[in-house]
Amino acid sequence: MDDDAAKVESLGSGRVPFYEPGLQELVDEGRAAGRLTFTGDLRAALDGTEIAFVCVGTPGLADGAPNLAYVERVGRDAAVFATNDLVLVEKSTVPANTGVRLSQIIQREQARTGSPEGADKDRVRIEVASNPEFLREGSAVSDTLHPDRIVIGSATPDAGETVRRVYEPMLADHDCPVVMTDLPTAELIKHASNAFLATRISFINAVAQICEQVGADVTTVAQGMGYDKRIGPHFLNAGLGYGGSCFPKDVAAFHHLSESVGYEFRLLDAVRQINGDMRRLVMDKLRSEVWHLQDKTVTLLGAAFKPGTDDLREAPALYLLEQLLDEGATVRVYDPVATGQVKERYPQVEVFEDPIEALTDAHAAIVCTEWDQVRALTPAQMVAALGYPIVIDGRNVFDPQAMEAAGVAYHGIGRGSPQ
Ligand code: UDX
Repeated sequence: MDDDAAKVESLGSGRVPFYEPGLQELVDEGRAAGRLTFTGDLRAALDGTEIAFVCVGTPGLADGAPNLAYVERVGRDAAVFATNDLVLVEKSTVPANTGVRLSQIIQREQARTGSPEGADKDRVRIEVASNPEFLREGSAVSDTLHPDRIVIGSATPDAGETVRRVYEPMLADHDCPVVMTDLPTAELIKHASNAFLATRISFINAVAQICEQVGADVTTVAQGMGYDKRIGPHFLNAGLGYGGSCFPKDVAAFHHLSESVGYEFRLLDAVRQINGDMRRLVMDKLRSEVWHLQDKTVTLLGAAFKPGTDDLREAPALYLLEQLLDEGATVRVYDPVATGQVKERYPQVEVFEDPIEALTDAHAAIVCTEWDQVRALTPAQMVAALGYPIVIDGRNVFDPQAMEAAGVAYHGIGRGSPQ
């Protein structure tokens, strides 16, 4: 069920309205089996429903707090429309104690409206559970079907067990730990996980800044660190920093939550600052090579906040794009899936479906997203296409030595001394 009529219409006719590998097939399969339908009518959606997942947006407000008005709205509506006992499951990322507030709102609303129409009012029991989502865009389907863990929080064992049963068929194929806990703990697991992953990225980005000064290579530092089983290799790729709909918002929301309960989470301040520094560092590297940007043509290789998605939310490439436009540059963007959206938002930007065309005669290129199509470019191709062989590699995808051997003025992030 969704309020967005266009989305419901699109999905109802079998079209997934955004790019996510494997999702179209899954939707096709569900529709063909008659197990997946779409509606804009919440009353109809809740009629006879035993479990409903709340997946509404929780957009960030100016002070970093997430806007929970949509979550509250679902609670109120569920109180009115539920026809039988219902477990309302928070899937949207929400701060700790949202579930408790949601339960209060539901109870208050039930007391006010009395029993839902057509149902035996006093016997409809709505319980709130938390079942945070850990999928990554670009691998959402496989992350959902093969999770590292399933977290279920609830105020009563019954509600938790009802949610666990939803996953039973999936667990038969793919065994993974199931953490059964209370509501605030489940909610906190989600914020703590995302904040920790963002912290790893900012940590390695801070190390990259040191690498630049002492002549060390951050990719090898990360590799050397990652072999330690206590550290592990993931989320240690230095570069332009994190973007997307989750990390920036969740780090801000977690920081806001901690402040609201009287703890100043200074570490998260630093995480955010370091992340912002990386975009400025890339602009500085570009300016140090091309000097003024006025009337220069700069090609951004990749626009999406990461490969495998057309999502531009908080994409570091957009910061660069806007900065370049401000400074009078002509901006070109290559992206295999997101150029349509880029053009819609920035009509003055030239977009390309072919990376070589995008590079042709440009004054410099900046790697913003590590798409395979970008990785596949050879130093020789770049030298041949670019007007001036200047490459700022914001995702450390290229081999500095090979680039320099081909005559490219190459700048990665934290790659002080290519061996
Ligand atoms: C993230 C979490 O990984 C996922 O568990 C949660 O459910 C939603 O938020 P997502 O935003 O899809 O998923 O992308 P992710 O792969 O985590 O990458 C986030 C950002 O961090 C991207 O911009 C990526 O480029 C950047 N990143 C990631 C790095 O800069 N370095 C890394 O080592 C890893």
